[in-house]
Parts: sequence; structure tokens; C-alpha cells
Amino acid sequence: MKFREEDIERLNRELKIEEIVGEVVSLKKSGSNYKGLCPFHIDSNPSFMVSPNKNICKCFVCGGGGGPIKFYSDFKQITFSEAVKELAEKYNIDIKIEYQGKEKNVEYKEYYEVMNLVHEYYTAEIFKNTGRIALEYLTSRGLTPEQIKKNGIGYANNGAVDYLMSKGYGTDILITLGIAKASESNIYDAFRNRIMFPIHSLGKKVIAFGGRTLEKGKDVPKYINTPDTPIFKKGNILYGLGERSSIIKKKNYSILMEGYMDVLTSVIEGFDVTLAPLGTAFTEEQGMLLKKYTSNIILAFDMDGAGQKATEKTILTLKKQGFNIRVLTLTGAKDPDEYIKKYGKQSFLETIQNSEECFDFLYSYYGKEYDLNDMFSKQNFIKRFVEFFQNIDDKIEKTLYIDKLSTNVRIEKEILWETLVDKNKPRYSKPRVQEYEKENKEEADNEVEILTVRLILDENKYFKYFENYSFQMKFARKIIDYFKENYDGKKVLKLEEIIKLDTFEDEEKLKMIDFSLVSYNPYSQLEAKEMLFIELLSSWLRKDIFNYKNLIKQQDLTIIIKMQLALFLKSSEISLGEVKNSDDMIRIYEEFNKKINFFLMNSREALSEKVHK
Ligand code: UTP
Ligand code: MN
Repeated sequence: MKFREEDIERLNRELKIEEIVGEVVSLKKSGSNYKGLCPFHIDSNPSFMVSPNKNICKCFVCGGGGGPIKFYSDFKQITFSEAVKELAEKYNIDIKIEYQGKEKNVEYKEYYEVMNLVHEYYTAEIFKNTGRIALEYLTSRGLTPEQIKKNGIGYANNGAVDYLMSKGYGTDILITLGIAKASESNIYDAFRNRIMFPIHSLGKKVIAFGGRTLEKGKDVPKYINTPDTPIFKKGNILYGLGERSSIIKKKNYSILMEGYMDVLTSVIEGFDVTLAPLGTAFTEEQGMLLKKYTSNIILAFDMDGAGQKATEKTILTLKKQGFNIRVLTLTGAKDPDEYIKKYGKQSFLETIQNSEECFDFLYSYYGKEYDLNDMFSKQNFIKRFVEFFQNIDDKIEKTLYIDKLSTNVRIEKEILWETLVDKNKPRYSKPRVQEYEKENKEEADNEVEILTVRLILDENKYFKYFENYSFQMKFARKIIDYFKENYDGKKVLKLEEIIKLDTFEDEEKLKMIDFSLVSYNPYSQLEAKEMLFIELLSSWLRKDIFNYKNLIKQQDLTIIIKMQLALFLKSSEISLGEVKNSDDMIRIYEEFNKKINFFLMNSREALSEKVHK
């Protein structure tokens, strides 16, 4: 794919960065900017800054971000060209795609037009004579014509390709969209004799289909799905989300099921928050997508072995993204579709109410494989929880689960904590990029300064680690100076008191009020502050390292000192990447300052020697 330079520029100009980012990150206004949790690293306090003026975004911790197209392609993990294409379509900005070697300019809009047209064709087909077999089948499964219509269910006989070609579409586009397939000698319908379930984009456009066969006992796959096309990536979308995203957001939970039929049946019965992954394992991307709408998920996968295994895997994936997860058990039926039809919606509602917390599910799921009366077996059983604990970010949550496990297996918490948490820590090594793009650097630095004073105002005890840094912003400097004069390490300096002082201008006072309004992670205040402390001190140290790196370039230093300093800076950088907690951080900070002073002294001596010679 090739685009015209001026089209890309125009796209980057016309797309609003706050809108693009705002779709996936919840943003809070902060002065003329916005900020939110960085989507590129595990972020517990807002490090991601969005600047509408410059139309760029940037994480001041990991360096992720860029212009609208760059952000979108990084976030969705697609190529730049794919991002250009998708964004142009999504926001209706006209751009030309120049296919290499071909003169034809295909516009994205056409893809949607064709998908819409073929969908209309399928949905009409089910009520025709030729589609009777499909209508009868669905009726036998308890669906009324109204429900079929309302949910856009269709039937693919064997005529979609002919139909679309009669409308003037070429075979290329039909193959590109997965409607047609090509063999050596001819072009044929990809979906034949299948019930068609439409899959919608978040913009509610039909972008793909799942097709269930009506052939009985034949050697054909039960379902086929549209393959990945320019407008559809199956790991990036959930069946039903396009239609139900707003209700999920409103009700603030979602039920995840395995099959199209499960979703359809439950939606018809009023469970309007159900979704399904598309015949694949639930992906992290699907999780990120869902997170925009809710953090509460109930898993209602099939009751067979595969379904239970999928439940386990999905719990681990979702936990990593901080979801609250419950798991539903159906007795007397293999899946929600069968259950609802057999026992009715009231009974299904009860299974939702009786769903268990995901930890309890895992406990009995793993438990089936082990004999807990056997010492070794029990040990192995406990170790099965390693991944689960690795995927939990929040310390309090971890503690609660450890408590629970401890009660269940009757082993002391400390020992469990050691085996499951301490020994298996995911490294606290966020990718931290120091070299921000020049224009962003100042804003990023300001952000660090603001967050630093905010932290100090909240937790005075951190003041001593930052007092020697030079703050560029007047507002930050005033607060630091105030602390230098008034903080004795004991008496708490309260924001409410400071705010009354005449030293601060109204605008600065407003900023402070802002501080008290934006809260940290409500579940784990302590941990959030600790993380913020680590991140901030780390940023300041990195700035130091950056400055000292420049110092190395100075001619005055001897080669030996340059070398030693370079090695020292390098090793400090590495240790910064491995910080696990605030004690680590403080240790590195103290060592760094001790050593750097030593270097400075030495170099000064070397320098004065030189001068004296
Ligand atoms: P199921 O076989 O449980 O299908 O597969 P179902 O939706 O419950 O359908 P019925 O009730 O038997 O008619 C669960 C999901 O796995 C995917 C589909 O998304 C299906 O809905 N799948 C299944 C495929 O993609 N291909 C297959 O061959 C089978
Ligand atoms: Mn099923």
C-alpha cells in the first residue's frame, strides 16, 4: 500500500489526538493538555500526556506515543499503512490508496458498502423460498422470524458472488473481503448453505461473518469465519461488542460466552451484555477493547473440557489487565444456549447470581488434578497458582488472594507469599526512554515536576529525595522552597494550610485544588503512591544520567575518569530498569549520589592538577 505524502500529512493534521487516544484511554483535562494511564506499559498513575495544541501524545515514563497515526498503529499493533487506512475510513477522511503497479484507486468506503450489500442479501435470502431450510432450522432452535430479523441473521445459499457481480463488483474485492474464494479454475462463494451471523465494528458497520453450516454429518467445518481482511482482524474485535458497547458501559459488566448461538439466545432472553470472542482464544487485544467499557466480566464458557480450559486461560489474560472476573457454572447443559432453552431465563439469572469468583474457580479447577492429602501433590497444586499471582498488579488484591489460599490449604501466608509472589516477581522493568522528542521534552519535564510536588504534598516524607533537584517551573519551585524553609521532617505540612498562603497565586492554588480532586488508584492508595515515587525518582535520576552523559563529552576529563563514569552511568541505568520496590529505588538513589560525588571530586582534582601544571 502506498499513500500520497500530502494525504498522510493531512490525516495527521485533521485527526484529533485527544479523540484518537480518548477512545482507548480515559483522559482527564490537565491545563491545556490531557492525561491518563499509559496504554504502552503497566501504569498505575497517569503518565500519558496528550497535547491537543501539538496534536501529539507521549508517555513520560516509557516514551510511547507520537502523532495520531503513530499512536493508533502502535496501540493496535498494526503497520503504519494499515493505521492510515483504518483511520481514514473511521473518520471519513478522503485519502487515496495507490496500489503499487496498479492504477486503480480503491477507496475504503467501498469495502463497507460491499459488506453491507452482501449482508442485506443474506438477510433477505433467509425469508425466501431458497432459504427455507435455514428458517426451519432456526425455528427448530426456538427463534422467531422477528428475532432473526432483529439480530440480522441471514442465510448464504450459493448466490452472493453472482449477486454482487451483477451489481458491478469485481472478483478482486470479493476475494479481498472473504466473500468469495478462488480455485484454479473459478471463483466461488466462500459461504455456502450456512446461517450467517453478522459481526459489527465498533462503528456498527458489518465487517465480517460467522457462518454455521446446515449440512448434517458432512465433512465440513461447523463454523467458518471471514478471514482477516483490510477491515477485519479477528483478534481485535468481539462478537456483539459493536451493537452492545454502550449498554455494557452503562450496566458496567459483560458476560463472555463461547459461541454465536449462546450470545444470540441470551441476548434474545434479555441478557443484553453478552459477547463472544470469534472462535479464537480470548486475546489481550480483545481485553483492552473491553476495558474501555467495563472492568467486570462473567465468564460463561462451555462446560466441556475445552471450555473449562478456555476459562482458565481467559482468567489469566483478563487478570493481567485488572478485570474483576467471575465464573458461571451450568449444571445439566453444555452451554448457555442449551441451558437457557432448557431451564429458562430465571434459572440462568440464578446461575449468574451464583457465579464464583475466579480464584475459587481456579481452586477447584486445579484441585481436580491433585490429591491434597499427598504432600508432594499439594506442593505442585500450590505452584499452579504462580501465573495467576504474576498477573495481578495490585498488592492488596494479591494479599487477599494469598489469605484465601492460606485458609484453604492451611499453609502460612508468609510461606505462600514467598513461593508464589516473591520468587516469581515479574520484573519491574518498564521500557523507559529518556530521549523524548525535543518538543515534548519540556512538557514531559513539567509533568514530572508537577507530579513530584503533588506526591510531596501528599506524602511529606518523600521530600528529602527531591529537594536537591532543580525545578524549572515557578510553581513547583515555590512549593519546594516552601518545604525547604518549613519542613522539619516531622510536622506534617498540609495542602489545606499551604493553599491559604499569599505566596501562591490564584492559578497556582487552582492547580493544588486539582491535586486533591484527582485520586490515585482507589483500591491501593499506598501502592499507587509507592509506584509514583519510584517512577518520579527514576525520572529525575535518568535526567541526571542524561546530563552526566553530556559531561563525558567534555574535554577536560581524563580518559580513565570518562571511562569509569560511562560504565557507572550504564550500570545505574540498568539497575533503574530492575527496581522492584521503593527500598530498591532509595538504595540506587543513594548509591548514585554517593558515587557521582566521588567522581566529581576526582575529576575536579584531576582538573586542578591539569591547571596547575
Ligand atoms: P460451538 O461448537 O460451541 O458452537 O463453538 P455454538 O455457537 O455453540 O453453535 P451450536 O449451538 O452448536 O450451533 C463455539 C464457537 O467457536 C467457533 C464459533 O465462533 C462458535 O460459535 N467455532 C466453532 C469456529 O470458529 N469454527 C468451528 O468449526 C467451530
Ligand atoms: Mn456451543
